[in-house]
Amino acid sequence: MLPGERKVRYVTPALGQVPSGLGSSDPRETPMARTERRTLAVVASVGLTLALATGALAARGLSDDEEALAPTRGRPSAGIERKVDALLARMTTKEKLQQVQLLSDGQITDADAKAGVGSVFSLVDAEKINHFQRVAVEQSRLGIPILFAYDTVHGYRTVFPVPLGAASSFDPEVASADAEVGARESAIQGIKQVYSPMVDVSHEPRWGRIVEGAGEDPYLGSVMGAARVKGAQGTDYSRPDKVVSSVKHYVAYGEAEGGRDYNTTDLSESRLRNLYLPPFKAAIDAGADTVMCSFNSINGVPGCANKYTETDILKKEWGFDGFIESDYTAVAELRACPPVTPDEGPCGHGVAADGPQAGAAALMAGTDSEMVSTNIRDYGEQLLASRQITMKRLDDAVRRILRVKFRAGLFDHPYVDVAKASDPASYGKPADLAKSRWAAGRSMVLLKNDGGALPLDPARSTALIGPFGDTVDDVLGPWPGRGADELAPAHVPLVEGLTAASTGQVTYTQACNLAHNFDPPNVANPPLTPEDEVCAGPGDDGTTIDDAVAAAEAADQVVLALGENAYMSGEANARSELTLPGQQQKLLDAVAATGKPVVVVLLNGRPLDLSAVQGKAAAIFEAWFPGTEGGHAVADVLFGTVNPGGKLPVTFPRRVGTAPTYYNHEPTGRPCDAASKYNSRYRDLATCDPLYPFGFGLSYTTFEVGDLRLSRSSVRRDGRLTASMRVTNTGSVAGDEVAQLYLHDPVASLSQPVRRLRGFQRVSLDPGQSTTVTFTLDASDFGFYDNRGKYVVEPGLIEVYGGDSSTATMKATFTVTR
Ligand code: BGC
Repeated sequence: MLPGERKVRYVTPALGQVPSGLGSSDPRETPMARTERRTLAVVASVGLTLALATGALAARGLSDDEEALAPTRGRPSAGIERKVDALLARMTTKEKLQQVQLLSDGQITDADAKAGVGSVFSLVDAEKINHFQRVAVEQSRLGIPILFAYDTVHGYRTVFPVPLGAASSFDPEVASADAEVGARESAIQGIKQVYSPMVDVSHEPRWGRIVEGAGEDPYLGSVMGAARVKGAQGTDYSRPDKVVSSVKHYVAYGEAEGGRDYNTTDLSESRLRNLYLPPFKAAIDAGADTVMCSFNSINGVPGCANKYTETDILKKEWGFDGFIESDYTAVAELRACPPVTPDEGPCGHGVAADGPQAGAAALMAGTDSEMVSTNIRDYGEQLLASRQITMKRLDDAVRRILRVKFRAGLFDHPYVDVAKASDPASYGKPADLAKSRWAAGRSMVLLKNDGGALPLDPARSTALIGPFGDTVDDVLGPWPGRGADELAPAHVPLVEGLTAASTGQVTYTQACNLAHNFDPPNVANPPLTPEDEVCAGPGDDGTTIDDAVAAAEAADQVVLALGENAYMSGEANARSELTLPGQQQKLLDAVAATGKPVVVVLLNGRPLDLSAVQGKAAAIFEAWFPGTEGGHAVADVLFGTVNPGGKLPVTFPRRVGTAPTYYNHEPTGRPCDAASKYNSRYRDLATCDPLYPFGFGLSYTTFEVGDLRLSRSSVRRDGRLTASMRVTNTGSVAGDEVAQLYLHDPVASLSQPVRRLRGFQRVSLDPGQSTTVTFTLDASDFGFYDNRGKYVVEPGLIEVYGGDSSTATMKATFTVTR
């Protein structure tokens, strides 16, 4: 069985755990309702435990990660194929060249719509959408509707936690709930395609866009990506509440050298296939019908001119029959720099001399639609005449775009209901806000909790301090959709959430300033650095660090809201430092000097260097950018209404200088040993360990993960075995643990990563309760892609590690035989 193919895993109910068969399987059930149902069912099932423990009612079902990965791609419809062919046969060359054009909201004109332009993105005015659609449908010769697209990355008006946060939940339902609500709200607006999920695996904390994806692991990224596609598309994206997903950025964009956005990537075939391609494959298997090619060059060939990745792998090897759009001006960026013709706009990788060559390279490599730049459309006829492109390829591109438009039901329902789209009641519905709050709570990661500093007591007085205590922009984070406009629900700052949840007094002292400069200040004003935006001087309310110290001294409990502003991560926001920007550390040091235990809440979009924070804070919890209900969700965790169960989807390094830092690295001939010289270490670091490893996260209760068992000690290459672990809540409150299973192949023809995540299951357990989680392993787990792009399963020993993080020590082994 190859990666991406369906495997079966079982979660066996044990004492007190609900068998999945006892609950509702109503697909319309919300994730929240499902969690509640599970909790209730757990309580209800206690009386049945003995019967369950015998296995008499042993439920058999897919674990959550496996359910998310189960392929659901539909078969092509013969009826649609006939319609596509009939329409294509009527199109002139000019009309075909218009169909492959994708324009922005600022570019589109009536003339474009009348000429038959293919798609438009970022237009969010329902009346304008209808206007251009009417021109296209009623005034263009063939009446082909326009596909309207938007970057609904973690919500449209109801904003969910940023995707890196959602990945911390290790719960695919969090990702699918986000995508489902985002799709519905986008569709109400007249959007039928979302540029999401972003599934770029990244080892780069410096890279600003790490916030948009699921972090450093291809398996976690595959599960979350597939869940998002299913949430957005359902089984039929022609439905009025569904949209087609565009998976981006194809491919390896997350590997940008030095973490600098848009930078080169140079990687082996095995890394491409083992690390970067799997989440794309999972998303395609989940039914994603569009893909966005990336800005970066891959071994010298840019993503949007890369025949190998676009045509050979995506279209031929994987059988993808949807279309690929370029990223923003990525086709123009193929040119040499300075550009020859046309001479405006960005340039250039230097794989094309001019605009016509760029258009030809992109189209012939497999790019079907050009975003913003217009080379294929403008030079298409001359390129056909000079045979630099073929009509066969142009037809193929158009056929793919029309296919998606028919599948989206656009020919039957081209228009948006303007009244509904303009009605604030269409967005931020109470049930959706509740889902967003639930998702944010599940996404938070408790990194430190000395002496039970958390949870706080809501009856005591709380001093909330710091630049991020009363900010609304930063609870939403980057790519906030339309989460802050007049039709969006109010988004909740931390101070509001804490005040609402507390019966004791809550005071807020900003202590230092917070600015939001989309263009960082050093562009206009060289002496300033971007970090001067946060905590560079007194607070916008005039308060200072001294005021913060006084507020801390006067209160029973102290919470510091620290982090990065929303513009410090996301596109074009690489950082060369990973410490808290500005004077935030100084603020923490001063408040900690009062002797009061300090709880640090972090809002940020990347792994940070928290070494100095770790030394001063009694408790640290990572709230990421939590979304519309951010303040409430933070209060839920701070006061213990929600017990945090998230785990890190990225390694938190000790220093920026260790980047790239990731758990699934290959071994070296000289493994790191901080105590001796000639090995793979940093001379100035006393340890080989990161500050917080991948998969790590604490809870207000304690768990024991034990009893790792394999169903057999040897297995044929095409066989399977199961690995099980027992998870017990050994503390005194209910909580969640994520059982994690890692594999390592110690002797292989290619040096293999020291660990690879191959299974996880988040479980909720009452005090004293335990459950057994069972995973099925097969060739898709114990093999790997070699440097010829071949998937190989080599005979030999495989090590299995089970536990609650990537540093799990519980170990078992099995042998793969021929
Ligand atoms: C980003 C894409 C995005 C596109 C359209 C580009 O700059 O890289 O992720 O989908 O803009 O907004």
